[in-house]
Amino acid sequence: MYLIRRYLCPLSNKAKLLKITCSSGCLRFSTSAKMSKKFKNARRIEGLDSNMWVEFSKLASDPSVLNLGQDLPDIPPPIYIKEELAKASTIDEMNQYTRSFGHPSLVEALSSLYEKIYDKPIDPNLETIVTVGAYGSIYNAIQGLVNEKEEVIIIEPFFDCYDPMIKMAGAIPVYIPLRYKPTKGNEWSSAAWILDLKELESKFNSKTKLLIINTPQNPTGKIFSREELKGVANLCIKHDIICISDEVYEWLVYTGNKHIKIATLPGMWERTITVGSAGKTFSVTGWKLGWSIGPRSLIKQMQTVQQNSIFTCATPLQEALARAFQIDIKRMNDPECYFYSLARELEVKRDRMIQLLRSIGLKPIVPEGGYFIIADVSALNVGLSDRKKNEAYDYKFVMWMIKNKKLLAIPVTKFCNVYRKDFEKYVRFCFIKQDSTLDAFEKIIKNWNK
Ligand SMILES: Cc1ncc(COP(=O)(O)O)c(C=O)c1O
Repeated sequence: MYLIRRYLCPLSNKAKLLKITCSSGCLRFSTSAKMSKKFKNARRIEGLDSNMWVEFSKLASDPSVLNLGQDLPDIPPPIYIKEELAKASTIDEMNQYTRSFGHPSLVEALSSLYEKIYDKPIDPNLETIVTVGAYGSIYNAIQGLVNEKEEVIIIEPFFDCYDPMIKMAGAIPVYIPLRYKPTKGNEWSSAAWILDLKELESKFNSKTKLLIINTPQNPTGKIFSREELKGVANLCIKHDIICISDEVYEWLVYTGNKHIKIATLPGMWERTITVGSAGKTFSVTGWKLGWSIGPRSLIKQMQTVQQNSIFTCATPLQEALARAFQIDIKRMNDPECYFYSLARELEVKRDRMIQLLRSIGLKPIVPEGGYFIIADVSALNVGLSDRKKNEAYDYKFVMWMIKNKKLLAIPVTKFCNVYRKDFEKYVRFCFIKQDSTLDAFEKIIKNWNK
């Protein structure tokens, strides 16, 4: 065990000396530790060293703070998926490496599920890939398909990893915001946030390679309508663009809404990679298993990235996921199928949280899908004067709320880039929580004005 000390030069504030001392004290030497230029970050990660989840996980580690920020279900996952994992781990061969692009039983399960939804055959080996979470799918797709200096269109607010993944590929993110354009009756629904197709078209040019869409969307809960998706599809076809459709919340759709897969629209299968997540489908975010479905020409490029990077995902997890899928595929006509029962359970939680947020004067946007609510917090006018001037309003509000109310949510500007101003009065709350967590939330709300 060594004790390593770095001394700071008082003038340059840079590391100057490195002193390494053995814990027994017998070995002791020091060396000049002027940082070699070779230790500097690679250009591809320049400016990407901060990450909202790293920052907010730290804040959430205080046990006195109620964490309604991160995408963490605290409801138990279905019992059978846990049992299947326990069983899989007792089979020796399940504890060894498996096929790089997806464990055979899992890709079979994915193809039999999605064949029903797409109403077309899906080749388990050539038209699916299993990845390290949905993150892995998005990463493989961008790395495998986008060249330096090419452009990728993303819709603000966006799931935060899109932006750095595009930049790590040397490509350029191009942003388009959702615009708040309510029609009578939907003022406080995520449906009031729409994608302006004319504005979208203005973002395309000869360098545009790919567009990423996320429906149901994180953080707004918006479900893109068929009309919007048709508009996006027409532009992708007209400009010969690839589409990544991030559909990790595909089953979490609330009464009166319908999730449509853009890949099922005419002309879109051949240019769309559709991304899913076991974490979101079965409430097992810690498993970090995801997948993509798409035409073999696109999946092939993702497979190439995977075989040359992580190679394969954990075998017992894949086997257990395959078996859980088989259980729910068999009962897709039964309301007890987890794909539907989770959404029913969450809708009650969504409505409870909406009522509680409204009771203190916040203005929540009712999500059509997913498991987040964004709420306009500007009406509360809480004292934010001790924060730095250049911080966004929502960030200041969240920091105030953590300190004064012991409640953590996520500032929506953390999902934005150039359109931060349009979203800085919103913070995001997560409602995939057990009743006891929501009871604790209710207690905070009831005491809010005391
Ligand atoms: C929209 C969206 N895409 C992708 C992911 C990543 O999912 P996974 O945990 O499967 O990597 C998340 C996680 O919160 C998400 O909200």
